[in-house]
Order: sequence, then C-alpha cells, then structure tokens
Amino acid sequence: MSLEVLNRIETLGVVPAIVLGDSSLAADLAAALYEGGLPCAEVTLRTPSALETLQEMARHPGLLIGAGTVMNIAQAQQAIAAGAKFIVSPGVDESLIRFCMEQNILIIPGACTPTEVMLATNLGVPCIKFFPCDAFGGMPVLKALNGPFPNMRFMPTGGISLETTPEFLAYKPVLAVGGTWMVKREWLEAERFDIIAEACAATMAIIKQTKRGVDTSNRVPKLGKMSGFGKDSGLSAISKATVSIHEAFMGE
Ligand code: 3PG
Repeated sequence: MSLEVLNRIETLGVVPAIVLGDSSLAADLAAALYEGGLPCAEVTLRTPSALETLQEMARHPGLLIGAGTVMNIAQAQQAIAAGAKFIVSPGVDESLIRFCMEQNILIIPGACTPTEVMLATNLGVPCIKFFPCDAFGGMPVLKALNGPFPNMRFMPTGGISLETTPEFLAYKPVLAVGGTWMVKREWLEAERFDIIAEACAATMAIIKQTKRGVDTSNRVPKLGKMSGFGKDSGLSAISKATVSIHEAFMGE
C-alpha cells in the first residue's frame, strides 16, 4: 500500500498542497483537480475544518488524497480515519514515522539538513519533503544532500513554481514536487475552480514534456525567454507559458 502510493506520486510528479478555509468548497476543488488531470493532493491540517475538507476530497473516487502538516500520532489517526492515503509532516518525528510505518501508510516527513535526512534514512523513510525548498537553498542543496544520501528521494516543496518544476523533476532523486501554485489562495477564495483546473492542466502538460531522471546540474531555465508570463494574473497566461517554459528549458 505504502509503496503503491509512493509509486503513484512518482508517476504524477506533483502534489498540490491544499490550504482551504471553507470545507464546503472541498467537493468543487476535488472536481477541479480531477478535471485538470492532477488527481492528487496533500490537504494540510492548517485550518479548523481541514479534516472535513480531507474527508470530502477523499470521497472523490479518482483522487489520491493525503494529509499535510501532520505533527503527531493523534493527528495522523484522525487523518487516516478521514481517508488520508499518505501523511506529510513538516519535520522528522520518530514516533509519528514509526506509527505510520506500522499502519503501512506512506509518511513523507519534512527534512532539509543532513542530520534530519540521516534521521529519516535510519528510520527507513524512502522519501522526504525538502521543505522549505527555496529558503533552504533549492537545487544546489538537494544535490549536496544526494552525496551522503544517494538512495533518499526528495519532494521539494516551498517556493516551487510552474517555471521551476521541470528543473526539479528532471533531477533523478526528486520523486515529485509539491506546492500551491496551481491552487492559489486567491483562486480558492474567489471560487475560481475553472482557473485551478486550468493551472493543474498546465502543470501536468509541463510534467509530461519534462524528461525525467537525468542529471540537470548544468541546465537552468532561460527565464528571459518566458515572455508574457507574469504580466497577466489570468490563467491564459499560464497556458501560454506552458509552451514557452518547455521551449526555454528543453530547447538547447
Ligand atoms: C506547503 O504547504 O507545503 C508549502 O507552504 C507550499 O509552499 P508554496 O506555497 O511556496 O508552494
């Protein structure tokens, strides 16, 4: 079960991090993710109604739903009871990791220092959430960690965007990327599920075009080529950018 979920996440390549204040929107959000071809989410336990959101989204038959920001065993138990198929934690907690392993539930703990990655490795964790990725140095740090921990897989999260997704996913130790760029708070608040579906579709299009499992150490996206992106906050800009990002990154 746990390995099956890990493989599914790797196949998808991305895990949206959901922060939803109003659980009555959960079904619409689930439908938007599914429609956008991104049938997975980490529902963070950061809002009072997060468990209701998780439960509602987990009801969708096509979605793989996990719980995020899980700090302890009690929260993990509640999340699993609500339908979570994997658990994400912002840090390394031995008792939480052991509990999830006993339940045969995939746990992806947060880690970003060698000590934390070593702790996770020694507990038998196959993949850590490299969080907060951007603030802790991004790709150069991931590559440095791969030296002593060649078998550890990473889910970089925090500051990842549509533009930087290809660079991360092309790097073999990266299992998947995580983030909120396709489920932005303002779109959720405005109930723009059409935009969310389009952002998910743009993300999946980029991932399909990304050659995965290669060493990207000498490749960086040519940001200058991404004309038009960022000038317009509407999703048509993101769709257009899908093509130019691919060209910028792969067309060398
Ligand atoms: C998380 O919740 O895991 C991160 O806050 C997501 O980070 P992002 O909003 O920068 O994508």
